Amino acid sequence: MPVVLNKVLKELKSQIVSNNIPVHVAVVMDGNGRWAKQHGKPRVFGHKNGVKSIRDVSEAAAELGIKYLTLYAFSTENWNRPALEVNALMTLLVETIRKEVATLNKNNIRLQAIGDISRLPEKSRKALAKAIEDTAQNNMMTMVLALNYSSKWELTKAVIDIAKQVKENKLDLGSIDESVITRHLATKDIPDPELLIRTSGELRLSNFLLWQLAYSELYFTDTYWPDFNKEEFFKAIISYQSRERRFGKTSEQLISNTSNIN
Ligand code: IPE
Ligand code: IPE
Ligand code: MG
Repeated sequence: MPVVLNKVLKELKSQIVSNNIPVHVAVVMDGNGRWAKQHGKPRVFGHKNGVKSIRDVSEAAAELGIKYLTLYAFSTENWNRPALEVNALMTLLVETIRKEVATLNKNNIRLQAIGDISRLPEKSRKALAKAIEDTAQNNMMTMVLALNYSSKWELTKAVIDIAKQVKENKLDLGSIDESVITRHLATKDIPDPELLIRTSGELRLSNFLLWQLAYSELYFTDTYWPDFNKEEFFKAIISYQSRERRFGKTSEQLISNTSNIN
């Protein structure tokens, strides 16, 4: 790495305080197509270059001690893209997963997936299942790939599951609360993200983690995903650390709570 870049990275990292690292960061990796266009290349070229950013960001996240990194890789709506692009994305998924297992193991990162995996092509499902199994023992960080995921799919499934349990007298209607709903989501074992990052300048959630992002801090950047790197990730964490998370309280209440502890 060039010395200057290294210096910038170090300087950014030094601004990050270790006692306020988010446990879970979720990312909408957007802008691959526009990045490719900018470079006069087909959209798939952008997707291929986006893999490097995944590597960079997961390394940066693990380095900071972040425990969960959820990456939106393919939405249920993305099936509506041209077949050529969908096929290329599925192929890239298989290739990348196979190639990256060794690095995940080296960095002690466990792979998981959320979404309607059963509807992915068999090759993708197999590669994914194998990578999940081969990284299951890793405990430094969990990388969660959202694949054929949408929040409305997830919530609909949760409602159906809960209704079934009530109908079969396995669950009392009166005992349904937020924790019951949380337990029926694909993310049931994962804490809600404190921070959501979306690249490429789009200011929307696109059906991603609607329940889980209820109180998350949102960070938007114009940078296209293939240009998003460690430095950009550190900037997002610095921004996160500058926020006051009030959870409905007043700023004064938070300050007096802090002074009580000290
Ligand atoms: C994000 O980049 C990757 C996926 C949705 C799979 P896009 O492909 O959406 O890129 P843009 O938004 O068209 O630039
Ligand atoms: C969201 O990006 C999905 C992923 C990043 C996988 P899109 O590019 O598909 O979102 P919209 O359609 O522009 O909202
Ligand atoms: Mg997009």
